Amino acid sequence: MNENKRYLLTSALPYANGPIHLGHLAGAYLPGDIFARYCRLKKRDVVYICGSDEHGVPIMLRARDEGKNPQEVVDHFHAGIEASFRKVGMSFDYYGRTSSPVHYETSQEFFQNLADKEAFVLKTNEQLYDPEANMFLADRFIRGTCPNCGYEDAYGDQCENCGTSLSPAELKNPRSAVTNAKPIKKETTHWYLPLGDIQPDLEEWIATHPEWRNHVLGQIKSWFKTGLTDRAMTRDMDWGVPVPEAAAEAVKVDANGKVLYVWFDAPIGYISATKEWAAKQGQPDLWRKYWQDQDTNLVHFIGKDNIVFHCLIFPALLKIHGDYVLPMNVPANEFLNLEGNKFSTSRNYAVWLEDYLEKFEADSLRYTLAVSMPETKDSDFSWRDFQARHNNELADILGNFVNRTFTFISKYYDGKLPEKGALDELDQELLDTIVHLRKKVGQAIDDFQFKLATKRFMELARFANKYFNDKEPWKTRKSDPESCATALHLCAQTAYALAVLSNPFIPFASARMFRILNLDAKPEEAAWDEVGEVFLPDGHQFGEPEILFRKIEDEVIEREVAILETIQREAEKAVDEPEESLLDIEDFRQVDLRTAKILSAEAIPKARKLFKLQVEVGDEKRQVVAGLAEHYTPEELAGKTVVLVANLKPATIRGVESQGMLLAVDDGKKLTLVSPEGEVVSGKPVS
Ligand code: 2FM
Ligand code: ZN
Repeated sequence: MNENKRYLLTSALPYANGPIHLGHLAGAYLPGDIFARYCRLKKRDVVYICGSDEHGVPIMLRARDEGKNPQEVVDHFHAGIEASFRKVGMSFDYYGRTSSPVHYETSQEFFQNLADKEAFVLKTNEQLYDPEANMFLADRFIRGTCPNCGYEDAYGDQCENCGTSLSPAELKNPRSAVTNAKPIKKETTHWYLPLGDIQPDLEEWIATHPEWRNHVLGQIKSWFKTGLTDRAMTRDMDWGVPVPEAAAEAVKVDANGKVLYVWFDAPIGYISATKEWAAKQGQPDLWRKYWQDQDTNLVHFIGKDNIVFHCLIFPALLKIHGDYVLPMNVPANEFLNLEGNKFSTSRNYAVWLEDYLEKFEADSLRYTLAVSMPETKDSDFSWRDFQARHNNELADILGNFVNRTFTFISKYYDGKLPEKGALDELDQELLDTIVHLRKKVGQAIDDFQFKLATKRFMELARFANKYFNDKEPWKTRKSDPESCATALHLCAQTAYALAVLSNPFIPFASARMFRILNLDAKPEEAAWDEVGEVFLPDGHQFGEPEILFRKIEDEVIEREVAILETIQREAEKAVDEPEESLLDIEDFRQVDLRTAKILSAEAIPKARKLFKLQVEVGDEKRQVVAGLAEHYTPEELAGKTVVLVANLKPATIRGVESQGMLLAVDDGKKLTLVSPEGEVVSGKPVS
């Protein structure tokens, strides 16, 4: 790696069709942010780019399901994702989006450039078509049985069960994901990239990067072994970047209803976001320096499911275009699991970032994910490990060291940095350790070894904490004041080192440490290479000591574990006892439905979706927990007559007992309670 080059860093553009969960964060975002923050502290020329990926079939399907247009869907999620990223401390220089006019223009220009070079081959063939929805069924618009493993719900581009990459024609018993209709075949024309022709060039280029992660090279080589084939770069759809008119006219194809393939336009989103960033700097041409000058280190941070696109297809496009740099590294992460199971968006088996951030600190998550990042193999997030990392490392080691240092200085030295005297062996060892570990942490980050870097950072805090113990300043304060002052002087200097070195990993705590240190500058303005070389001046006045991390209690963690266990149990039950599609009338009669009158509703602390309701069922009073808080106010609910499932086993939800369930209509957006017409008394059977 050439340190003096400038850096252009990207994190995969998340699809704007749902929120971000911890698996995403660990995969493509946290490593990019650690690297970007480190580069800034190293005073390197760096730009860090991300944005929302706003095209593709899942977004269209979601829009259809919700009766919205795709722009409304992406507007909603783009805003939510950007807000979560900000709260978790992602330090993008620019967060763009692929529905922006600059992006349309940039990706159309790129496509036109390739078309002018005759880089595409035009092919007309029969593709699956939904006769009910009147549309071609590409990628995820089509579902069917996987030819490889027999999974019945495979997508047209991939089987999620066995991971095989597929094309729609390979699926057995194909059906439309839009209407369930049996597709017919219809002719259509598309622009294909003959990747086979460029494979030798790609192989030669990849051979110059033996330092890339093994699993990344492994995937690439397996693609090479199978042999790259032609890939369609356009689709028949009405949501996406339109195929440029000129490109279509040149080959006499009607461009109407044809858009660029989402994986053609999405990575170009990195370029268009850099253009928008440059324009915002008042230097519209500045983006060229990062994309078109060979002195750039381009690094893509992604999850392993994106390897083929970032290591082969996008580089192929960049190579053919000819004006662009190729990635210096693509340190893809493997997957993060959750309590030993796969994340599942459809089953809601996930910890969503926005939910996490309502309850816990960003830094605790950043630290836990960094220290067990899935760099070379899949790793696991467990709530108990999270609690242990927070309590035993962030609070008991780092937090304790900083707190005891500044409480001592505040109490016995008026909050001013005491002068140091002669150094003994241990004092010198501490100073040497700061410099040694600063270099080791930096080296690990430069090598994309974020787990190791995080551990080395905590090693410094651990060493410092032990130093404080070994120095016993509470004793030497009277017996040997010079040694005491020296120890506290060095502890405060070490706290400064930790404040700077922590910034890539736990930026919020880093800022709090700067506040305690009473420094005017922000941590981001500090210089990594000065840590352990440049010191705070004697007599420097510190701010108020504060506790950096408060312990997380067991019950808080147990609640989170229980939520995931319930979801997992239900999924396992559904597999063990496949649901019969038709219900016996006797089974239905076992459900005791009753009218009930809502007496009152109140919010449940820390459960923003839930209400605790008191209901009257004839002579009986019951308490019911219901997810109505985003749909009704307590005033709207009080007095309402509703339908209660009266013979459910009581359940404890977020620590509150619930004795029944209310029936409601769910249209995907709003819950509407089922309520009998007219005046009905409570406690009456409903059948
Ligand atoms: O897998 C994904 O989430 C894609 N939206 C990543 C796109 S990365 C880039 F190419 F834009
Ligand atoms: Zn399969």
